[in-house]
Amino acid sequence: MKRSVPDLLHAQEPLVMVTAYDYPGGRHAEAAGVDLILVGDSLGNVVLGYDSTAPVTLDDMIHHARAVRRGAKDTFLVVDLPFGTYHTGVTDAMRSAVRVIQETGADAVKMEGSSPEVLEVVSVLSRNGVPVMGHVGLMPQTATAQGGLKVQGRDEESARRTLEGALALEAAGAFAVVLEAIPARLARLITERLRIPTIGIGAGVHCRGQVLVYHDLLGLYEGDEKKLAKRYAELGKGAREAISAYAREVRAREFPTRDQSFVMKDDVLGKLY
Ligand code: KIV
Ligand code: NA
Repeated sequence: MKRSVPDLLHAQEPLVMVTAYDYPGGRHAEAAGVDLILVGDSLGNVVLGYDSTAPVTLDDMIHHARAVRRGAKDTFLVVDLPFGTYHTGVTDAMRSAVRVIQETGADAVKMEGSSPEVLEVVSVLSRNGVPVMGHVGLMPQTATAQGGLKVQGRDEESARRTLEGALALEAAGAFAVVLEAIPARLARLITERLRIPTIGIGAGVHCRGQVLVYHDLLGLYEGDEKKLAKRYAELGKGAREAISAYAREVRAREFPTRDQSFVMKDDVLGKLY
């Protein structure tokens, strides 16, 4: 059964979130029974081949989220608002969020940061019925300004900024917050201080939930191991081996066999000669 926002707020069991970007991904995640699916703007990196999430557009997100929703009709669906689509004022942010909700059937949107501008957007959206998931710690959309894709919250200033950002997001009305790449002890403190669930990625075991990127979890890219991710499969290796086997069999005329071939009615062939 699809989770609701109140149900997620009060969940006693750890929440399971995974990203998905297309129809098969949505189907696999829903069949596995996850609590939430995130159409992350990591789309830019893992599916579209950009080296950052910055080029991802709202139309890209909507196109992919629609496909995920077709594969996962009964799972709580969160869609990332990409870079630039919630930074030019509350009206624009509301318009972006409404497009996502109306055009994809998403249940919530997610956005990065806890600047006064973002907090205002979170507050207006949540008060107007758009559930918002926050995201603090490492924030890929603005990683350049954070000094690259680096662990956050190691020193006092950065730890305080992350804690205060999470508290401010809760106060603004966010229903959950992603903690990305921060020390496990800090994530534990933040989780204890908040009433809303924390969902960790590279944030230790004490968060109220966990999220992994689909391609990391499934090992879809060989040689792309990340400290914060665990690879539960090596599908990239499997895919490469399968395509190589197919290529070998085509070249050896071993594929297709009779199993994959169709037969004619008995008397037809003679008439064609
Ligand atoms: O875009 C994404 O996949 C994310 C998760 C890593 C939380 O924001
Ligand atoms: Na993201």
